[in-house]
Amino acid sequence: MADLSARCGPLALRNPFLLASGIWGESGESLAGAWAAGAGGVVTKSIGSAPRFGYANPTIETYERWGMLNAMGLPNPGIDEYPKEIEIARRAGATVIGSIFGGDADEFARLGARMASTGVVALELNLSCPHAEGFGTEVGSDPKDVEAIVRRVVESSRLPVIAKLTPNTSDPVALALAAERGGASAVSAINTVRGLAIDVRLRRPVLAHGLGGLSGAAIKPVGLACVWQIYEKVSIPVIGVGGIMTADDALEYVMAGARAVEVGTAVAFEGIAVFGRLVRELGERLDALGFSELEDAVGVAHSAPSASSG
Ligand code: SIN
Repeated sequence: MADLSARCGPLALRNPFLLASGIWGESGESLAGAWAAGAGGVVTKSIGSAPRFGYANPTIETYERWGMLNAMGLPNPGIDEYPKEIEIARRAGATVIGSIFGGDADEFARLGARMASTGVVALELNLSCPHAEGFGTEVGSDPKDVEAIVRRVVESSRLPVIAKLTPNTSDPVALALAAERGGASAVSAINTVRGLAIDVRLRRPVLAHGLGGLSGAAIKPVGLACVWQIYEKVSIPVIGVGGIMTADDALEYVMAGARAVEVGTAVAFEGIAVFGRLVRELGERLDALGFSELEDAVGVAHSAPSASSG
């Protein structure tokens, strides 16, 4: 069977499938469950400085087969409460990456230092939630802000920092280059694509918040394009996110240049058993395609004769 271990900068993963932030990460037990089910690592919910209740319901609209629109509003118990959940997951042996969100570089730096003290192996910075006032894309759309935030967290935490980037921009490469200049060890691309659903009978948006973020199969081509463009211009590793439902989806991301992938909507639809399935299917697929190691497939699509960055 092909070797599925993944090296993502300083991170050594047993396989490339990470539990994405925001799905199944409410408690230490749920994080540990995803790890036991076969995830190569788990990313926590995005944690902020203080507890947040999040938006009113409805917060999720599902589209059969192709995706999900959500606006949860970054609900979380806050950085003082959440570390005990991380401890439970770590005791279960999980490789835990701590996701944080803040309103500016100072807040990110404080949260980074605090999250680093919990024993997580890396930090993921949520610079990309598409609908939270004062957070996410509102602080992650200008390369200067991205560079400053990443630099401050690298300094305050002394841990590998992964910048989770937005697709809701004309230039994802500029954001990735900014993260690299700030000292990020990797970028993850992409977070959800801003979207809207209208209930025509009620004549109002379906989600209580109005705007939401689209995830799932529908956004895979958007995620792949971002990973493809970033891989061509940025030296730090890329983690692919968006619409990974099958091993072939993951392999597309890897061939576009990703060294690991995050799985979210597939977990929401199928539960954590998806990790066992993906690991098994990816091993079989690599064998069938003649790859002895996952690493050998990273970026290979860029050297195909007809490939062009456009
Ligand atoms: C949410 O909590 O509403 C989603 C978070 C995100 O998109 O990053």
